Amino acid sequence: MGTVRRIHPHAEDDPDIAAAYAYPRDHWLRLNMVASADGAAWVEGHSEGLSGRADKRIFGLLRGLADVVLAGAATVRTEGYRPARPRESWRAPREGRPPVPPIAVVTRLLDLDLGGPLFTEAEPYARTIVITTEAAPKDRRDEAADKAVLIVAGDDRVDLATAVEELRGLGLGRILCEGGPRINAQLAAAGLVDELALTVSPLLAGGDAARILDGVASRTPLTLAQVLEEDGFLFCRYLREAHDEAAG
Ligand SMILES: NC(=O)c1ccc[n+]([C@@H]2O[C@H](COP(=O)([O-])OP(=O)(O)OC[C@H]3O[C@@H](n4cnc5c(N)ncnc54)[C@H](OP(=O)(O)O)[C@@H]3O)[C@@H](O)[C@H]2O)c1
Repeated sequence: MGTVRRIHPHAEDDPDIAAAYAYPRDHWLRLNMVASADGAAWVEGHSEGLSGRADKRIFGLLRGLADVVLAGAATVRTEGYRPARPRESWRAPREGRPPVPPIAVVTRLLDLDLGGPLFTEAEPYARTIVITTEAAPKDRRDEAADKAVLIVAGDDRVDLATAVEELRGLGLGRILCEGGPRINAQLAAAGLVDELALTVSPLLAGGDAARILDGVASRTPLTLAQVLEEDGFLFCRYLREAHDEAAG
């Protein structure tokens, strides 16, 4: 069983992971994704087959650093999202903030289990947030407003720039987007992605899985700010080129 080491920009054994991923600014959107070495964003429909021990640790830590975890409804449904649970290791990075970040779900039609744990088990200080559209059925929106914090951010589609503004308005500026690929593509196309935390899994997957961005084409030049490694997994931290002065 290995330990994490930094291999870029300088070599270091067992670096401070929380410091390695500190948010450079209060308004910042980080995508966190795992992909196989050939670029697949899932194996047999889930990200679990791509992940490993260190990836899970860093995934958890990134949640601990964030004000809010943003995800598309398909990811929430497929991965069985529940509210984040407090961890001892989050105590220091979350000082002055609630013990866990809320989960914010983007959905057009509100086809979510509003009676499920994501809604019923969220603590009052971290109620799940639903970001939806005027197109969602009125009765579903009313129910969502009862069970969650409801944001309506578009007529037929959620406008992700508006959604990000609304989250910032709630004091949730450090946004961790955990995918999936369809949400990611829209965020990138809207120029909203400040950072990509990409785990490259030592695995070839083939098949027809999407890449980590799926949908509208865009072009976001990145700077490679940091690479960590453990057990053959690479943890790459890319910053949008305009932000490379914030590499830290
Ligand atoms: N490799 C990784 O790190 C990783 C991370 C996350 C997920 N995944 C995998 O990715 C897959 C899911 O990702 P995905 O790309 O298919 O879907 P996704 O991005 O998670 O969610 C797509 C859904 O989000 C809602 N949505 C997206 N854009 C919207 C907009 N502009 N306005 C309103 N609603 C919008 C819609 O929900 P409604 O249908 O409810 O309207 C849509 O069906 C799963 O297999 C999951 O395991 C992998």
